[in-house]
Amino acid sequence: MTTTNPDQRLYFPATVRNLEPIADVLQQWLPNWGIILEIASGSGEHAVEFQQRFSHLRWQASDPDPQHRDSINAWIRHTVQTNTMARALDIDVSHNPWPLPKDVKACLSAIVCINLLHISSKKCTASLLQQAAERLPRQAPLMIYGPFKRYGAHTSLSNANFDASLRERNINWGVRDIEWIESLITTLPLRLMEYKTMPANNQMLILIHE
Ligand SMILES: C[S@@+](CC[C@H](N)C(=O)[O-])C[C@H]1O[C@@H](n2cnc3c(N)ncnc32)[C@H](O)[C@@H]1O
Repeated sequence: MTTTNPDQRLYFPATVRNLEPIADVLQQWLPNWGIILEIASGSGEHAVEFQQRFSHLRWQASDPDPQHRDSINAWIRHTVQTNTMARALDIDVSHNPWPLPKDVKACLSAIVCINLLHISSKKCTASLLQQAAERLPRQAPLMIYGPFKRYGAHTSLSNANFDASLRERNINWGVRDIEWIESLITTLPLRLMEYKTMPANNQMLILIHE
């Protein structure tokens, strides 16, 4: 459910609900320098809040949906952060290489991706991992938030029902398995450091570039 207003800002209720617990984990893992690239920023409500909380960093939002980019840019204007935050980038995670501006390439210090993997194809997950491995400097984190399965099993009945509803909407969507993610990184310089249980049956995966 999404609501809008004349200045193009979108409001995603789930985004506001999960903001605090996600911010707490980001606080522990984000580096103390550089540009944080957010993939699939959606409305932009996370991006503007995280920029304010982590003001020593530069938060770079992105989304392939033009309406979402308009919303992100409207949130940046609304929160008076146009001097700090660049406009949202048009990045489809599956289109490699990602079109990153020079400064983002040079100063990239972490990648954050919230609630994308289950509403996109498996190719998107593979591409996210591949691009993170190519673009992050050593010791930099890739942080992925969302619902996940363990050893092929759902962690809750609500996730199982959610997964079924996703697959009904799009056969290529679905809740991914953490072990599948691990199998994808065996050939990449990424290591799964931690998966943290989050509220509402979600997880935060922390992968580090080795
Ligand atoms: C469920 S929303 C999550 C938005 C935001 N991260 C949040 O948690 O509120 C999923 C977002 O993924 C974006 N998206 C869909 N396919 C994508 C792709 N192939 N590459 C990057 N983003 C994509 C959508 O446009 C949408 O903004």
